Amino acid sequence: MAETGEAIAVILAAGQGKRMHSRRPKVLHRIAGRYLVEHVLAAAREAGIDKQVIVIGHGAEEVREALGPGYTYVLQEQQLGTGHALARARKAANTAATVLVLCGDTPLLRPETLARLLKEHRDRQAAVTVLTAVLDDPTGYGRIIRDGQGRVTGIVEERDASPMERTIREINTGTYCFAAAYLWPFLEQLKPDNDQAEYYLTDVVALACRESLPVLAVATDDPEETLGVNDRAQLAAAGAVLQRRINNRLMLAGVTIIDPIATYIDATVQVGQDTIIYPGTFLEGHTIIAAGCTLGPGTTLRDCQVGEGSQIIHTVALESQIGAGCQVGPFTYLRPGTILEDRTKVGDFVELKATRIGTGSKVPHLTYLGDTTVGTGVNIGAGTITCNYDGQKKWPTVIEDGAFIGSNSNLVAPVRVGAGALVGAGSTITEDVPAGSLALARGRQVNLVGRGQKKRC
Ligand code: UD1
Ligand code: CA
Repeated sequence: MAETGEAIAVILAAGQGKRMHSRRPKVLHRIAGRYLVEHVLAAAREAGIDKQVIVIGHGAEEVREALGPGYTYVLQEQQLGTGHALARARKAANTAATVLVLCGDTPLLRPETLARLLKEHRDRQAAVTVLTAVLDDPTGYGRIIRDGQGRVTGIVEERDASPMERTIREINTGTYCFAAAYLWPFLEQLKPDNDQAEYYLTDVVALACRESLPVLAVATDDPEETLGVNDRAQLAAAGAVLQRRINNRLMLAGVTIIDPIATYIDATVQVGQDTIIYPGTFLEGHTIIAAGCTLGPGTTLRDCQVGEGSQIIHTVALESQIGAGCQVGPFTYLRPGTILEDRTKVGDFVELKATRIGTGSKVPHLTYLGDTTVGTGVNIGAGTITCNYDGQKKWPTVIEDGAFIGSNSNLVAPVRVGAGALVGAGSTITEDVPAGSLALARGRQVNLVGRGQKKRC
């Protein structure tokens, strides 16, 4: 890369985002499971730019904390405009020959588009290359001004534009490549002589033209990707575009999505082929689904791994592992730390927390197991409750291989039910049950002959 010089990305993310009416900084609003600015960072990285500087200001600490230490941060204390923001990054971007500038609020930009922008910029040795788009409705964006020969001569913000200029449909996407040698001196020449009294980065274009430096415009072929998020309606619109892209990618890779409009999958999720996803399903965070599963309807899986061929219906599962060939739901709640080994069945109105269910075991209905280890081939009857909390501490329960827990039993932890043991229905088990034994811990039945009839009269 010696002949082209190193490139760095600077992401402008210091603005407050007033139109969001939010306590959170705008760039920390999420779509498809990632912060807006994370989508921008990912696109730059996938376009081959690993060095990324983020200009922060409004909510600086919150942004820095949310994104973590993998980036260089520079602080813009007062938000005096995009040109002023970029100038703060000069020291941090010091060694780079090419500076790619992105706004933290344009999450739909595709890496291929950024790579093309960079390539054109370098191939044609431009001083400034602007990414533009032609929109049916350019309202709100800066307009691209061209001369009689079609050369770009400047960018004018809507609020500063004449009625004639406002009819221009080619807009500034807020994404640019700059030759560093020209950029930094030009930023010092900016003047806040506009409607907002701000230092506009866009004025660098006119400065470069005035010095007859090569200024280019590269137009995207997909205007949708330039959508900037300034309010919650645009947030939802950007989310919908991203969702459509993610779902399309999965469908083209062999996943059946019955109703893509009603299926919400984060950018970070992986799904294997021939999996079928029913509507109302949310796959979130670091969820990985193997091949041949059936998910939904009405299912949320967050940070879960699911093995091949499992079926999960009307379920909420968080930070859980579900093996291959399992059946989960309807109406199951798997809380963090749940592990279902292969071919287990967990049915309706079952809640599991920090619990492992061994291969082939069944928890078919109406059960709570917390901090429990269940062996293989176990059957847990309806209405089984582990009493794992004494008001101060959580205690473990162990149910060994082949045990059978009768319906409506309480297992008061800490307690162990040995291999092959049988717990009689309705028992409250407070002591360990040795392997192979039958435990009965309930009141004996008394039948008072004839009394039933009398009592009802
Ligand atoms: C900007 C462009 C406009 C373009 C549009 C594309 C300028 C003057 N205008 O307008 O031509 O069509 O983007 O979406 O550049 N920011 C800072 N510090 C500041 C001001 C802004 O970091 O002092 C950041 C914001 O956090 C945001 C980005 O810069 O991520 C753009 O700022 P915003 O106020 O949204 O600019 P627009 O009015 O959308
Ligand atoms: Ca904007």
